[in-house]
Amino acid sequence: MHEGRNQGGKLVVVMVGLPGRGKSYMARKVARYLNWINYATRVFNIGNYRRKLLGADHHADFFNPNNPLGQKQRMEMAEAAMDDMLKYLDSEGEVAIYDGTNSTLERRLWIQERIAAADGYHLLFIESICDDEAIIERNIIETKLRSPDYRGVTPEEAVEDFRKRIDNYRKNYEALGPADEIFSYVKVIDAGTKLIMNRIHGYLPMKILSFISNLHIVPRPIYLTSHGESMNDLSCRLGGESELTPRGVDFSNALAKFLEKNPETSPSTISLWYSTASSARQTVRPIQSHTRVQWRALRQLEAGAYSHLTLQEFKALHTKEYAMRSANRLWYRYPLGESYVDVITRLEPVIFELERSRNPVVIVAHPEVIRCLYGYFLDLPLLEIPRVKAPLHELIELHMTAYECVETRHCLVPIKNHSSE
Ligand SMILES: *[C@@H]1O[C@H](CO)[C@@H](O)[C@H](O)[C@H]1NC(C)=O
Ligand SMILES: *[C@@H]1O[C@H](CO)[C@@H](O)[C@H](O)[C@H]1NC(C)=O
Repeated sequence: MHEGRNQGGKLVVVMVGLPGRGKSYMARKVARYLNWINYATRVFNIGNYRRKLLGADHHADFFNPNNPLGQKQRMEMAEAAMDDMLKYLDSEGEVAIYDGTNSTLERRLWIQERIAAADGYHLLFIESICDDEAIIERNIIETKLRSPDYRGVTPEEAVEDFRKRIDNYRKNYEALGPADEIFSYVKVIDAGTKLIMNRIHGYLPMKILSFISNLHIVPRPIYLTSHGESMNDLSCRLGGESELTPRGVDFSNALAKFLEKNPETSPSTISLWYSTASSARQTVRPIQSHTRVQWRALRQLEAGAYSHLTLQEFKALHTKEYAMRSANRLWYRYPLGESYVDVITRLEPVIFELERSRNPVVIVAHPEVIRCLYGYFLDLPLLEIPRVKAPLHELIELHMTAYECVETRHCLVPIKNHSSE
């Protein structure tokens, strides 16, 4: 699948559903997740083509099926997005997500035809259905009010207009049904409460579905930090277990105090997830929390055969290996050990659970692990992950909303500069 081309493996995911059902949100999240696990993925959002090529100020009337000009222009936008998508899949792209709002059988057949003519890529439809007014309302407020379509419009006007737009689409809407039995599809009902699947086969589609079923848009913070400074950090040793230094213990106490005072991390709500390494276990000791979970998946990048060496010894004794590591920090794998990409692979279940969690989560792990998790939330290209700044004694606070992830960094105990990378 991963390297497939031509009948082999590439996948087109098509979003189906009325406006305001979280389609674009899902599309963005799936793309970010797939890129993080190293599938080249891009979203082709027809609305963005419309905004880019026709300007942003389209109100409900434009979406009225009885407006012939609007309809013609929307078809042109759908074509433009389709052309670009096929070009992308013909080159580096492995997964493409087609995100538009024309949810008719005619559109689905058109997509199938275009794709079959191009290369016979796998096709997966994801329909988001939601009749829960509270979820729709929150969705509109969380996502649409900040859409460029509604710049300079009052929130009330925007909601009103958006509801009209939904009504316009409802006139032609055809949910996935008996006529779609030939397709691979999944219906996601009421934000993942219920899933209905048809002809779903293979590893990647299954993975996408289980990822989607964990998503929600309840805002909550996530806190990431490494353990306090340990003896191994002082000597820049690559691996192994060691106790905290006195400064590391200071950090552990400062972290506990910070979380206690911070209104968003009251002990009665936070979940504390930490690595099984002794430095992390010692760091979390004074922290009060609602739940505590030790994850082996949060352990440091395994330096394998070199884990007893300091960085200087590694550099001096294994010049060639050291050069390979410097040349490619992302893919370099220590003999009998791990690479950053290996760490990402084992962090997948952590990401699934983080997406699912509705409570604030505090993670105490190790710099490489923090970089990988941070890279996911900030949607960084994989190559940048090894370069993410993740100094000891700094707590990274991430606030996730439907549109973005906002970070704040708290330096809790100053750390002496040492050359550990
Ligand atoms: C929906 O898509 C189909 C097929 O691409 C197209 O013929 C039809 O005009 C579209 N409907 C609207 C309302 O844009
Ligand atoms: C650590 O290094 C940075 C930049 O090299 C410097 O600005 C900072 O003052 C140093 N901190 C300490 C505690 O030495």
